[in-house]
Amino acid sequence: MDILNNLAPRRFREADDLLAFISIYDDTRRTRAFQRLLRAQQKHIRGAVCAEGGCGLGVLAIEMAKLGARHVYAVEQNPLLAKLARERLAQLPKKIAQRLEVIETPLQEFRPPQKIAVLVHEFYGQLLYDEDLWVLENLKFKPQRVLPDGGELLAGVVSAQRYTDKIVTPALLKSLDGVLVAGLFEEKLHELRLPVLRWQFGKGLLQLTDNFGNRKGDLICFGVAVTHQGKRICEAGRCPNWSYVWTPRRGNRFSLGFRPTTAGSECFFHWLS
Ligand SMILES: C[S@@+](CC[C@H](N)C(=O)[O-])C[C@H]1O[C@@H](n2cnc3c(N)ncnc32)[C@H](O)[C@@H]1O
Repeated sequence: MDILNNLAPRRFREADDLLAFISIYDDTRRTRAFQRLLRAQQKHIRGAVCAEGGCGLGVLAIEMAKLGARHVYAVEQNPLLAKLARERLAQLPKKIAQRLEVIETPLQEFRPPQKIAVLVHEFYGQLLYDEDLWVLENLKFKPQRVLPDGGELLAGVVSAQRYTDKIVTPALLKSLDGVLVAGLFEEKLHELRLPVLRWQFGKGLLQLTDNFGNRKGDLICFGVAVTHQGKRICEAGRCPNWSYVWTPRRGNRFSLGFRPTTAGSECFFHWLS
């Protein structure tokens, strides 16, 4: 979904974010995987004060209320999404709705009046850290549990010959030197073998490698995996919300970094050798 008319920058951003984030609900695998994770943690949720960071339409906050949370703060920074979440929550049966509260603020500004037992979030970008995971490193409160608590970015080194076609030809691919393109090719689902980045709540982002060494192949793909306690919850390719990210190989060593901004996190990538 693209916005086609000229808008004031702030209006553009809130409407663009709204459109980007509602499309995640087409990915029912993703949403079901998160709901399963919450159900598996019910003993920590029942009777407790919980929060959803970046609640969107509030689906996970509602799930926690249904699992018996005493109170759930549904924190959302986008005013349009916060309004939609409020309207949705108001339509729920009173015994659920009265335990849910939408707070319109960036999560990093939120100071809950009580201790938060469980904080659920879905801040994963296609390159792991290129959306909002950094926010969890800058909280003004200490949740007892963060769900999910980890993630990985994996890479694959493959042969471009197996992917190029009449449109995305080897010449076209060459012109994308140094460019990371999400969804350029369809995933074949066994490409990702090399862990590149690992994120863990409380420990932050760790680079595991910057080197493709002597692996054979002239095309690189990256894909994200969401993990909790080391187990995969969902991943690129299997959940349509995250595509593989592709780039032609120009060397062995690369630099991959991120810089938080007011609108997510910017990614920097270039070849070193
Ligand atoms: C990928 S969506 C996930 C929505 C919902 N948690 C779910 O999983 O169904 C991310 C949401 O987080 C919100 N968001 C991003 N950064 C945020 C921040 N720093 N504080 C609060 N909300 C944020 C976005 O506006 C968006 O609604």
